[in-house]
Amino acid sequence: MKKIVILISGRGSNMEAIIRSLKAEDWPAEIAAVISNTEKAAGLATAENAGIATEVVSRGEFSSRQSYDTMLSEAIDRYAPDLVVLAGFMRILTAEFVRHYEGRIINIHPSLLPAFTGLHTHERAIEAGVRLHGATVHFVTPELDAGPIIAQAVVPVLPDDTEASLAARVLEQEHRLYPRVVRWFVEGKVRFDAGRVRLDDAINTPAEFILTGDFS
Ligand code: GAR
Repeated sequence: MKKIVILISGRGSNMEAIIRSLKAEDWPAEIAAVISNTEKAAGLATAENAGIATEVVSRGEFSSRQSYDTMLSEAIDRYAPDLVVLAGFMRILTAEFVRHYEGRIINIHPSLLPAFTGLHTHERAIEAGVRLHGATVHFVTPELDAGPIIAQAVVPVLPDDTEASLAARVLEQEHRLYPRVVRWFVEGKVRFDAGRVRLDDAINTPAEFILTGDFS
């Protein structure tokens, strides 16, 4: 049984999608805990209702980034996770923290990386006039939003899209993509190898990598 710790900062809908898939399908994994950097994260209640241990590790008034990340990794490591899943965890992590979890920490980002790193990705995609947008799941490395890409989900950008309509279209795909990648990881089908992603031969159809808006 692989142990997963999920980190959130807000709504937690990706976390919820992972919880739901894990319960519905038979994964060799359990979610040991959900940890948030703020007690205001709505996802904490969702996790509690699902019977999952939750913790808040909030940044004290005077704590440095370094000392916060030490506190956070101590909290995480008490659960001895095989995988740390960042699901809308809106903090920049220190290189030291990231290296501690090398090869066992993944993130979902709401764009087709390497385009649109950082914030406001949907608004920027509309402004840039791209026709395709989406989400990326990647291993986390010290450079922000730049780790090796595991899988991406693609959606069209439509002429009358607003930031909200595009965000909703991407989020729907995030909820399909992220549980799938987490499952691949716990089943040993994806791993981090010297800075590159290694995928199992069993994951061999293009549809597994590029999930279109019609993917179900
Ligand atoms: C998701 O869209 C995720 O891709 C994004 O935050 C949202 C969290 O939603 N993550 C980032 O922007 C990370 N840089 P959720 O709390 O409902 O899962």
